[in-house]
Amino acid sequence: MASSSSSPEKGKEKANGKSSDDVAKHKVKKDGLGWIEWFMGWFYLAYEMLFQRIVASNLQNPMPLPPINDLTFIVTGSTSGIGKEIARQLAEAGGHVVMAVRNPKAANDLIKKWQEDWSGRGLPLNIEVMELDLLSLDSVVRFAEAWNARLGPLHALINNAGIFSIGEPQKFSKDGYEEHMQVNHLAPALLSILLLPSLIRSSPSRIVNVNSIMHNLGFVDPEDMNVTSGKRKFTSMVGYSNSKLAQIMFSSVLNKRLPTEAGINVVCVSPGIVHTNVARDLPKIVQAAYHLIPYFIFSPEEGSRSTLFAATDPQLVDYCESLKAEDWPVCAFLNHDCRPANPSEEAHNVETAYRVWEKTLELVGLPSDAVERLIEGGEVKCKYGSSESHHSQ
Ligand SMILES: NC(=O)c1ccc[n+]([C@@H]2O[C@H](COP(=O)([O-])OP(=O)(O)OC[C@H]3O[C@@H](n4cnc5c(N)ncnc54)[C@H](OP(=O)(O)O)[C@@H]3O)[C@@H](O)[C@H]2O)c1
Repeated sequence: MASSSSSPEKGKEKANGKSSDDVAKHKVKKDGLGWIEWFMGWFYLAYEMLFQRIVASNLQNPMPLPPINDLTFIVTGSTSGIGKEIARQLAEAGGHVVMAVRNPKAANDLIKKWQEDWSGRGLPLNIEVMELDLLSLDSVVRFAEAWNARLGPLHALINNAGIFSIGEPQKFSKDGYEEHMQVNHLAPALLSILLLPSLIRSSPSRIVNVNSIMHNLGFVDPEDMNVTSGKRKFTSMVGYSNSKLAQIMFSSVLNKRLPTEAGINVVCVSPGIVHTNVARDLPKIVQAAYHLIPYFIFSPEEGSRSTLFAATDPQLVDYCESLKAEDWPVCAFLNHDCRPANPSEEAHNVETAYRVWEKTLELVGLPSDAVERLIEGGEVKCKYGSSESHHSQ
């Protein structure tokens, strides 16, 4: 597959045949994807759909995890689909898991069931629930403040929660942002930055973003993150793929802004095409077809493997650090087969990535030097939430 590579070394090699210098120089201002990029985006999606099971046939299911007894994980959106599997498997492997969810009752019901299923197989699962609604930036700040105030460890933040409101009209959050952009990119970006004090305290630590092959179809105009300017017609596909591309661009800049000494790596992951509730908005007839093609589509357990790998594999740190040392334009990106891959050509557009970074900080109400201040042990004020975000060492 042209956009993915089969080893860490190969993963760094080329973005569609270009060196990192070539790609960095490629700063042409565009109004949208070129037709070749657009065609390739669809090709990658179709390829993943048809061949993901063959490509990932090297992986066991469920995937064995390394020892994680002393590690703490926050998993957003863990009441359903891929996130539910991630939370359960991390907890069963001995990790301390925090389910960050918008429906705490559903999460508590799941925990009750998992504890019952687990009883007699070892110590009770170390798993708890905290409320987080990504459609509200106030909720994100409140969550981060509550977590940081505990002064406990945090080894991996797993930004899994996401929406794909297929076929629905454009909708905006109460904060005024297009909902895919807010839930899939802006809110996880704010959460990642506000939790840096906890991640720094617990380093080596990671931020793992559950991304998608569909970022290949994304094109982000930093001045039109809501897709309201009229330059481009909004569809749920545009909203979703743009949000996933914005996440890779933001993650790449965040990764560069974090000095190696901070000990935090940022990884984006493609889970594959997975049978989850993400299809809940599909027309009934398409949902029925979805059920009929289990051979091609991953189960949530299979779809959780690349994220679990990104959150726990000890050697991934070396790969991430080698990308940073080479000043590679994008952060680590893992394919659904857990191998490093190169995200889209547009994801390598360094100039746009920096503009997405700046715009994102502005939209989530953080100062442009938020990361640097938090790394130095300082405080940052966020426009959202009840008060300022504190960092005490
Ligand atoms: N399934 C695929 O084929 C596929 C492919 C590529 C990438 N992904 C990505 O994988 C991730 C997980 O998706 P999934 O397929 O497992 O879908 P899913 O079954 O619909 O699960 C999504 C989770 O996100 C939560 N969520 C949605 N809006 C939220 C909000 N405002 N605040 C907090 N949590 C919210 C949902 O909570 P509720 O349970 O309360 O609704 C649910 O727990 C997403 O980022 C998605 O984009 C999925």
